[in-house]
Amino acid sequence: MFVIYSPVEEIIEINPQIFLLKVFSPKIASIIKPGQFLNIRVTEGNYPLLRRPFSICDVEGDHLYLMFNIMGTGTSILAHKPIGTDLDILGPLGNGFNLEGDYDTAIIVAGGLGAAPFPFVTRKLKEKKNIFSFIGGRTEHDIITYNLNNVKESSDDGSRGYKGNVVDLLENHVEQFKNSKTKIFGCGPTAMLRSLKEFSLKYNFDCEVSTECAMACGFGICQGCPIESTQQQDSYLLVCKDGPIFNVKDVVI
Ligand SMILES: Cc1cc2nc3c(=O)[nH]c(=O)nc-3n(C[C@H](O)[C@H](O)[C@H](O)COP(=O)(O)OP(=O)(O)OC[C@H]3O[C@@H](n4cnc5c(N)ncnc54)[C@H](O)[C@@H]3O)c2cc1C
Ligand code: FES
Repeated sequence: MFVIYSPVEEIIEINPQIFLLKVFSPKIASIIKPGQFLNIRVTEGNYPLLRRPFSICDVEGDHLYLMFNIMGTGTSILAHKPIGTDLDILGPLGNGFNLEGDYDTAIIVAGGLGAAPFPFVTRKLKEKKNIFSFIGGRTEHDIITYNLNNVKESSDDGSRGYKGNVVDLLENHVEQFKNSKTKIFGCGPTAMLRSLKEFSLKYNFDCEVSTECAMACGFGICQGCPIESTQQQDSYLLVCKDGPIFNVKDVVI
């Protein structure tokens, strides 16, 4: 884990209000794994004081990409960073997806900004596995398909793709996957992760998800990011250190 000042090279709007930020950061780029995250100090001033966590979206050579939308002060400052500014990045943090293993088909399931970690996952897996991506959003504007493979889309309001939620869309295609060695990778709102967990247990698919919660330190010191473990009664794991990626069997979602 390093604190590295990395110059902002580009910020582009890939969907309405969804930004892709590119920074030059060779040291982090050489070691970061899909599913890990970076904790970013968005300003040199005192407000906001806390760093903001973002999944690694992709790595291309010495360059890192982050994908984000504007939620509040921190992300608004980030979206307007002048090109060339040094960004104070702490990372890589967290555990990352386990992409190895005995499976030949990877299913990516994402809701809204939950698509953020999957360009890097896709880049790492595409030479070795079949990849299918099920991508949902509330409306057509929330569906993010940037650098994903074999995409099927859903929207809650039916403005694009299947009308309904993305886990129902996946269930409509389940016959296609029942006879292959399949692993699911998910990220999105809690309600989506909960139904993805139910789905994967019902059909006995191995499934890892990227979880989120409010964070302060980002590396296990403040104890501020607990998630309930299923392994022992009343036991908790830390999203920042033990996660943010968990097998759905290991945590209460
Ligand atoms: C491990 C991890 C990875 C993440 N990866 C990404 C990513 O790749 N792209 C991305 O856009 N965001 C990601 N997030 C969420 C991101 O960190 C928050 O959106 C960001 O911190 C908001 O900062 P802000 O100052 O703009 O908003 P704030 O002013 O802090 O908050 C504005 C509003 O958003 C709500 N909010 C803040 N954080 C979250 C959250 N995590 N979930 C739901 N609501 C929230 C607050 O409660 C508040 O109502 C990730 C979070 C975690 C923990
Ligand atoms: S954010 Fe401090 S322990 Fe997780």
